Formats: sequence, structure tokens, C-alpha cells
Amino acid sequence: MQPAVINIFEKAAKKAGKILIRDFGEIENLQIESKSVGDFVTNVDIKVEKSILETLKYYYPDYSYITEESGNIKGDNNTIIIDPIDGTSNFIHGIPHVGIVIAKMTDNEITDGIIYNPILNEFFWSSKGKGSWCNDRRLRVSKRSNLSECLIGTGLPFGRRIYKNYLTEIDEILKVSAGIRRLGSAGLDLAYVASGKLDGFWEKDLNLWDISSGILLVKEAGGRISNIKGDEWRVETRDILASNSLIHNELNEKLSLL
Ligand code: IPD
Ligand code: CA
Ligand code: CA
Repeated sequence: MQPAVINIFEKAAKKAGKILIRDFGEIENLQIESKSVGDFVTNVDIKVEKSILETLKYYYPDYSYITEESGNIKGDNNTIIIDPIDGTSNFIHGIPHVGIVIAKMTDNEITDGIIYNPILNEFFWSSKGKGSWCNDRRLRVSKRSNLSECLIGTGLPFGRRIYKNYLTEIDEILKVSAGIRRLGSAGLDLAYVASGKLDGFWEKDLNLWDISSGILLVKEAGGRISNIKGDEWRVETRDILASNSLIHNELNEKLSLL
């Protein structure tokens, strides 16, 4: 059974998801601004975030908030983290791979999180000790242990984001895996690791709102999360490695060669 906090996140995400769907594929109606080269925000990101905040502040007026588009609100030691559209570039281009991300963190630990893709009606959720779910289905990471059979997700740098050695990293993984995917939503990449669709994922320079729910989804589905060097994940970690746990050390070795 979904905990109460997940029910409330679901209510907020599904209400905001209607706003997202209304404007999906309507490129003429979008107002697009560039925060930096390749990093966009649309009027829909803003509207979706506003709607989520409105719902959540009613239930949790005393909490702290970290949001991608409207900054931080200082409250008590419970923090809600929001990415209104993870995959804004996909959204702008009419690619239905986007997620609304909402997570709860208490004393630097993510305890509950959701990622909702309103276009495909996929509602991923996870709570500490309660497993990971997509709609009514329990999620488990894949059982593939041979890297040559594994599909690995990643994120590529764009604009002013430079990931040192990223082409070498890609080369290292391409040589030994079944292939690499760049799907365009770090949150959903992690949800796909939790679902056993991707066997692993790495990306650098991410923000907490991209990965907050995703890291819990992976852990609760039996996977492993670390930084790229293999150290334990912390709130400040921006370079992330996720896997079904069976291939974690091998991925970590390949990515640490540099
Ligand atoms: C982006 C997506 C993308 C990742 C970028 C993120 P946004 O989030 O997660 O997959 O490669 O680093 O910034 O901007 O669409 O919310
Ligand atoms: Ca994001
Ligand atoms: Ca976003």
C-alpha cells in the first residue's frame, strides 16, 4: 500500500501532469527561454512547478523546499525536492520521455520519491523499506551479470557543461557492453535501472532534483548507487553511477581508469 506521503505526491503530480499534457507537442504555444547553451526552461516548466508547490504547501506548509525553477524555501528539517519536468529538451521536441520528479528528504536521507510520466501514464514511486513500484507493478533491477549483455544509460554534456574525458568513458563502456543509451531524463534513466530495462547508468554534474527519487527507486529495487569513483552516494554527489549491483564494480573500474 502506498504511504500517505506518496498519495499526496501522486495527487500533486497528476494534477500538474494535466498541464504538461495539454501543451505537449504544441511547440507554437511554448515560450522557451535559454538558461545557458542547451539548458532550456519553458512556460510549462514554470506552470507545472507552481501547481505542484500549491498542492504540496497545503499539506506540508512547514517543510523546506528545493525546486529547480523557483529556488529554495527554508522550513523544518523535512525537505521536498522538485524537478517539474525532467527532460525539458525532450518535451520541447515532442519526445514523450519526460518525468515530474518529487522527493522527500529528511536529515539528508531520501525517504520517499515519485517520478511521473503523464504522457505514458507511468507513475514510479518508492519509499524506504517499501520497495519500488511502477503503477501496480513491483520493480526489480535486472539479473544480467555479463556486461556484454548489458545496456547502459548515460548523459552527455551540452553547452558549457564539460565532462572531462567523457568520450574515453563512452569508448570504455561501448567496447564491453551491449550498447549505450542517452534518453534525456536522468530521473527516468534511474527509474529504468530500477525497472531492469537499463542495467546501469552514469552521468556527471547532475543536480539533486534530477536524481532524488531515482536513487531511492534503484536502491529499493535491489540496485546499487555510488559516485563514479564507487564511494557511497551523498546529497552533495553530482557524478553518479547506478546499476543492478551485479555489474557495479566492473562499471566502476572502467570509469575509474581515467
Ligand atoms: C536534464 C536531464 C538530462 C540530463 C541533464 C539534466 P532537465 O534535466 O535530466 O537527461 O542529461 O543533465 O539537466 O534540464 O531536463 O530538467
Ligand atoms: Ca532535471
Ligand atoms: Ca527540469
